[in-house]
Amino acid sequence: MKVLLLGSGGREHALAWKIAQSPKVEKLYIAPGNAGTGAAGENVNMKATDFPAIKAFALEQKIDMIVVGPEDPLVEGIFDYFKGDDATRHIAIIGPSAKGATLEGSKEFAKEFMQRHGIPTARYRSVTAQNLDEGLAFLETLEAPYVLKADGLCAGKGVLILPTLEEAQKELKEMLGGMFGDASATVVIEEFLSGIECSVFVLTDGHHYKVLPVAKDYKRIGEGDKGLNTGGMGSVTPVPFADEVFMEKVRTRIIEPTVNGLLEEEITYQGFIFLGLICVKGEPMVIEYNVRMGDPETESVMLRIKSDLVELLEGVAQGNLDQCTLELDPRTAACVMLVSGGYPEAYEKGKVMTGFEQAARTDSILFHAGTALKDGEIVTNGGRVIAVCSYGETKEEALAKSYKVADMISFEKKYFRRDIGFDL
Ligand code: AMP
Ligand code: GLY
Repeated sequence: MKVLLLGSGGREHALAWKIAQSPKVEKLYIAPGNAGTGAAGENVNMKATDFPAIKAFALEQKIDMIVVGPEDPLVEGIFDYFKGDDATRHIAIIGPSAKGATLEGSKEFAKEFMQRHGIPTARYRSVTAQNLDEGLAFLETLEAPYVLKADGLCAGKGVLILPTLEEAQKELKEMLGGMFGDASATVVIEEFLSGIECSVFVLTDGHHYKVLPVAKDYKRIGEGDKGLNTGGMGSVTPVPFADEVFMEKVRTRIIEPTVNGLLEEEITYQGFIFLGLICVKGEPMVIEYNVRMGDPETESVMLRIKSDLVELLEGVAQGNLDQCTLELDPRTAACVMLVSGGYPEAYEKGKVMTGFEQAARTDSILFHAGTALKDGEIVTNGGRVIAVCSYGETKEEALAKSYKVADMISFEKKYFRRDIGFDL
């Protein structure tokens, strides 16, 4: 079959790497891809949100399946665009309908969905400029710190955690006043939950589901989880505290009510559900839903899936995921992200990268995130540049391998955290 994967980050390189291993795949295209995905398939210069161009390409190349990496095309309705058109209806789209993608596209919708289905999450109040007074009053009922979330998509920047009531009240007004444009015209105020977080990935065909390896990501730029938020500086799977007892609670209290809730509400969902969970005194609660895989979690999660991913994705599209097997690698996988100096603030691009030949002689796997080919050389082309991923019998062994290879890859102002997995 012919597969088109949309996106251009480390997540997409990891998905491309795994998809390309399937004997079912005769041709893999990645749009737009990066300097690394070109090794797993053929890059196509097309934006992941340019639906007319994707449609024309898919018809011309007789694409059988489109796997959607990032959230934007999903929130913008790529599933409905293809399924609502007689010419493209036959193409399998891995990802939810626009309505399903609202679980990520609107924090308010996600909270209301959880409330309707009794899914454990933080207490909240949704506020607009019209009921600001209610929001200010709700803040007074909470204890510090205060959590404010822009309702809409903000590329991971829409959550503020404020230490004092005064700051929370001030920031609430600024958010509603357009701090994040339309995305913060509605703000969700939440009770602060204290605990350790993990990412649970579920693959669903709308009726059945499979739970992929649980991972933990490291979002802050600095060691010890200090400093600014980034897209993610590394990941580890498995997560020891997500043991059988914890996961049984996750299945019965969160995953099953979510899948059944979508079905009950007639929301078409055939794709990945990413549960951002927090473990509060042993009890799982939902911090957020995403409607795609995580980045950089995918980079380590893909290493632990032994089964043919494309067979599972076919099960998703055909509604018979229950008949597919998901076999996992029991080893640990760890990912260390190399980033451009200055990231997540201003940084330079176009730095020549070296060390790939030496890295290729190790058994670590490199997934490109922000890279590009320029005059035959690989250069940096983003904040997050390369994910160095390794297997190990233990977390320590996997990380030691990744750090060794992280030192082999050179580019000006390279930075990475050396404490991934420190809290596990
Ligand atoms: P989100 O974009 O919703 O994942 O939020 C970003 C990050 O903010 C999360 O990964 C958490 O670390 C933190 N966060 C969000 N909501 C809460 C909450 N209710 N309590 C504590 N931390 C939170
Ligand atoms: N690693 C978190 C995310 O992909 O949103």
